[in-house]
Amino acid sequence: MLKISLFLIFWSFVALNVNSVRVCNSFISYFNVLGCDCYNNIDDTLNVTEILRRWKFTAEEHRITTPDGYTILLSRAYTSLTRNSQPVVLGHGMFSNSMSFVYNGNNSLAYNLGLLGYDVWLVNFRGTRYSRGHRNLTTSDPKYWDFSFHQLGTLDLGAALTYITRITTKKSVYIGYSTGTTVSYVYASTRPVDAGTTLKGIISLAPIGYIDGGLPFQKYFDPVISFIKRIIYRLLRGEVLKRNLILNQGMKTMAFTPITMFVAQAILGVFGGFDFSQMDPLTYPVFLTNVFDSAGVNLLEHADQLRKTGNFQWYDYGNEGNLARYGSPTPPPYRLNLIPVPVTMYVGRNDRVALEKPAQKTYTEIANRFRNGFNMMNNTRWNHFDFITSKNLKTELYKALVETVRSMFLLK
Ligand SMILES: *[C@@H]1O[C@H](CO)[C@@H](O)[C@H](O)[C@H]1NC(C)=O
Ligand SMILES: *[C@@H]1O[C@H](CO)[C@@H](O)[C@H](O)[C@H]1NC(C)=O
Ligand SMILES: *[C@@H]1O[C@H](CO)[C@@H](O)[C@H](O)[C@H]1NC(C)=O
Ligand SMILES: *[C@@H]1O[C@H](CO)[C@@H](O)[C@H](O)[C@H]1NC(C)=O
Repeated sequence: MLKISLFLIFWSFVALNVNSVRVCNSFISYFNVLGCDCYNNIDDTLNVTEILRRWKFTAEEHRITTPDGYTILLSRAYTSLTRNSQPVVLGHGMFSNSMSFVYNGNNSLAYNLGLLGYDVWLVNFRGTRYSRGHRNLTTSDPKYWDFSFHQLGTLDLGAALTYITRITTKKSVYIGYSTGTTVSYVYASTRPVDAGTTLKGIISLAPIGYIDGGLPFQKYFDPVISFIKRIIYRLLRGEVLKRNLILNQGMKTMAFTPITMFVAQAILGVFGGFDFSQMDPLTYPVFLTNVFDSAGVNLLEHADQLRKTGNFQWYDYGNEGNLARYGSPTPPPYRLNLIPVPVTMYVGRNDRVALEKPAQKTYTEIANRFRNGFNMMNNTRWNHFDFITSKNLKTELYKALVETVRSMFLLK
């Protein structure tokens, strides 16, 4: 035990002093000090724009302001822009930002879409690393963190898609991952007229609308969730997993050896499903150091409400709050049957967050003529994170995904 502790302290110390993470072609090579198939992966130290430019893409930063005052960053990337370039918009998951779509070298989704000539737009939802501005609030103000999936969908995604349609004068295909799918259902069902003018279609990776069951131990949080929420507001103003020096160095330490990387994967596996087989030794360290981001605690609470009630519904403010806002003691449901564009879903068989059954339920509430495909991933080990981390992304996902994107743009 002592030896292991000393070993970990030693590695932490070394990790504290390196700038970019060292990666190797195989996990075995990490143990070879002279490893000649190892190099520093500089993506660890770059921001999204810098990575896009490293690929020789043209990258633009567009800052827009939502109706309720949040400034969010849209990154735009393309190899060459023509009159025919079609916009594809990518929406990230919770505890992350648009880095999810660029950190993964040439397995990155943005990279693969850009190479095909698409005009790629990356949304960064409020409160994440690149989208922390507000007209008159700061992130240390608890009011700043008072938002749920509803605001991310109606206001952030709404403002982003309106803006993108104005700039490109075209309708987009939206690809969401995890929470990025939830907010697209919120947007398209509450603003169907707008969605009909901004969107060609919606593609969902690890779709989350209905949440049935949830994690095995999640129900134990029910009695204490409002208590936890109060504590988080008191101590952290409402922001969970804020990036600070300790967290950054902790992640760097995790990223330093295959052993700690596998430990990290095991911890994440509790939440998202275990899959050690598709970890990519060349990029997994960067996933650990550069992809995680903070989230507002109300998002977690909203997710818990969906799980507890079994409904896909607006944020629950409690009886009185609901009466004041919605005119009824319970929140209204999101009416998925109002979504006015085709929706295609990709679901992992080993995903413990976006489960097959609730995804199926979400899918079947969409109007029949807009159900454009419900696809289970063929690789049985595919977990929640594999949609952005798998080393097999090109063969297992992008081949089919790109075909779906292409066909959506062809639809009238
Ligand atoms: C990313 O880095 C570039 C170059 O250092 C900088 O100009 C840009 O403002 C950064 N973007 C963001 C969103 O932080
Ligand atoms: C993809 O990444 C691998 C590993 O970094 C590299 O060897 C290869 O050249 C890259 N391919 C392209 C087309 O960039
Ligand atoms: C922020 O400014 C807007 C008007 O620009 C105002 O309506 C709102 O009450 C302000 N919010 C706070 C928290 O000061
Ligand atoms: C799964 O395999 C089938 C048959 O080869 C293929 O048509 C389908 O596109 C694959 N699914 C995905 C998500 O790639």
